[in-house]
Amino acid sequence: MSSPSGTAPRDRSTESTASTASTASAASAPSAPSAESPASGPTGPVPRLGLADTARLAARVLAPTVAQGAIARRPRVVGLAERLDLDARAVATVQDLHRRYGDGPVRLPLPVRRFAFVLSPRDVHRVLGESPEPFALANREKQGALGQFQPHGVLVSHGRERAQRRAVNESVLDTPNPVHRLAGDVVARVREEARGVAEEAARSGHLDWATYSTGWRRAFRRVVLGDAARDDEDLQGDLDALRYRANWSYLLPRSRTRRDRVRRRLEQYLERAEPGSLAGLLAQTVGGDSLVDPVDQIPQWLFAFDPAGMAGIRALALLAADADELARVRGEMPADLDTPQELRRLRAAVLESVRLWPTTPMILRETTRDVAWPTGRLAADTAVLVYAPFFHRDDEALAVAHRFTPELWTGEGHDGTAGDAATDWPLVPFSEGPGVCPGQNLVLLTTSTFLATLLEHHDHALEHPASLDPDRVPGVVSPFRVRFRTSPR
Ligand code: HEM
Repeated sequence: MSSPSGTAPRDRSTESTASTASTASAASAPSAPSAESPASGPTGPVPRLGLADTARLAARVLAPTVAQGAIARRPRVVGLAERLDLDARAVATVQDLHRRYGDGPVRLPLPVRRFAFVLSPRDVHRVLGESPEPFALANREKQGALGQFQPHGVLVSHGRERAQRRAVNESVLDTPNPVHRLAGDVVARVREEARGVAEEAARSGHLDWATYSTGWRRAFRRVVLGDAARDDEDLQGDLDALRYRANWSYLLPRSRTRRDRVRRRLEQYLERAEPGSLAGLLAQTVGGDSLVDPVDQIPQWLFAFDPAGMAGIRALALLAADADELARVRGEMPADLDTPQELRRLRAAVLESVRLWPTTPMILRETTRDVAWPTGRLAADTAVLVYAPFFHRDDEALAVAHRFTPELWTGEGHDGTAGDAATDWPLVPFSEGPGVCPGQNLVLLTTSTFLATLLEHHDHALEHPASLDPDRVPGVVSPFRVRFRTSPR
């Protein structure tokens, strides 16, 4: 788990994060499965789920995840998921499987495709750490989905191509740097748009998703493409439409007309190369290298900034529900927010938002060859599923599973004595290993700046979900339904 170094300890944080790894190891007894499990062992295949358990996993974990929209969230379905707390049920289902089948991984007996489901923290680290070989990021479902709008993006590439595209992304996104080298321009743009949101909310008395996301989208279009893109709703509309198609992966044919239109538009922004924008940096970074299609790297950035809006509004909801933490956040905020800086507690609130409600709930990999496990082998071309909410919310192993706990990310430790069990626990909202999100620092800089500006001169009292309890956070909070009563401070 990644955690930047820390600040002052927090009173509420006296409990240990991982009760111990004991639950996980207790559960690591060989699987209990049914007659449907073939003999497994180092030379045979890893155990597989029984048919009834596969049906439960499909109905309670896979279907709700897919139905909410893997690439573009469907607000109505997310609203339903909130009402039924579907993600909490999904986590309970996986906990039950883990108890009965042990540490896994387990194969799913599905007819058309080989799938395996990861059940242990150790295997999360292994699969993500050993990407892209033998666990390729570019798996078939992802290629089907992202092929709709970025067929040459880094996330759907492999081998030498992938290495070069990854390097370009890391360079432009300034991956290791908490404060991006363009932060002066980035912060100015983000603050301008956030001020607009705060003023609009104060005028109407309410801050809701429509107001928040309109400003957030203006901000990130300016950051990625330049000021000229601030009001480019046509591009955004085309991208949204392609992303909704992408939710269906390879089940829907590609929309060439729309995709070509998006491409032409992005080419124009790249040619324009506005100083202070990522497009400007990209134009300088990519030379005549044929393996990196610079235009096709941009949709991932625009697409990924969108869920960051969801993470942002939910972080604000958490802070509105936790007066003590809000006071600490305000205490950390410098008088001069125009100077780019690392706002650690606000970043931690955003990290908690994506831990509690991961915007990439299912991390997909694909085996490039047969892979050995202590319990057997996984064949080549198996899709490997890492369901992040299970690890983030497994209250049998993680004492603070459902508690808003920024200390998990500030480096001070939840109890000041974080041991191996805690630090090794896979909290992977941004993935980890060689495929870790290269935009993590940039998105934390932009989101925390946006939130800081909203909080600078305004109060936001939570109206929905009114009963949000920071000590018992529900499995789903729909960002589309979050609403605050906003007033000047
Ligand atoms: C809340 C915001 C975000 C979250 C939670 C997030 C999370 C993730 C995760 C989990 C992955 C790995 C996906 C996989 O393995 O299949 C990923 C990959 C990636 N992210 Fe992000 N991301 C966010 C925002 C951003 C932003 C704003 C950018 C760019 C401006 C970005 C750029 C990328 C890229 C280029 C990859 C592909 C990396 C590769 O293939 O090696 N992300 N992100």
